[in-house]
Amino acid sequence: MTKFTINGQAAESAAAPETPLLWVIRDDLGLTGTKYGCGVAQCGACTVHVDGRAVRSCTTAVGDVEGAEITTIEGLSNGGDHPLQRAWVAEQVPQCGYCQSGQIMQAADLLSNNPSPSRDEIRGAMAGNICRCGTYPRIVRAIERAAKEG
Ligand code: FES
Ligand code: FES
Repeated sequence: MTKFTINGQAAESAAAPETPLLWVIRDDLGLTGTKYGCGVAQCGACTVHVDGRAVRSCTTAVGDVEGAEITTIEGLSNGGDHPLQRAWVAEQVPQCGYCQSGQIMQAADLLSNNPSPSRDEIRGAMAGNICRCGTYPRIVRAIERAAKEG
């Protein structure tokens, strides 16, 4: 049994320790905001925070999060009012939306470590999050807006 905290709530998983954390989050805990894209750490759709840092949950074994604090898009804020979520709405970032929770979780990690990133720093931090709809310019604008309006 692996015990951890998710979105502020105590949780446990009986899945085999090598089971991808993404499977536990979506299939066992029913938190479907976190998406499955590639399964091999190449797209960022599955990004969640483990102890405050963005990780790819598709390649994180549930056995490795024993005692950790996990945050998914559902727990990023109360009522969807994180500065990034407000900026995402203001800039109308999503197209199909599939990649967007991973984008926001990656951006939240960036801003928590670098509250005023340059455009190059934003691009660098977000380079591993793929958007097949090509919303990249709006993602950059939304992160800049969130950094400004915080
Ligand atoms: S599904 Fe995890 S990085 Fe693509
Ligand atoms: S909005 Fe469609 S994949 Fe990013």
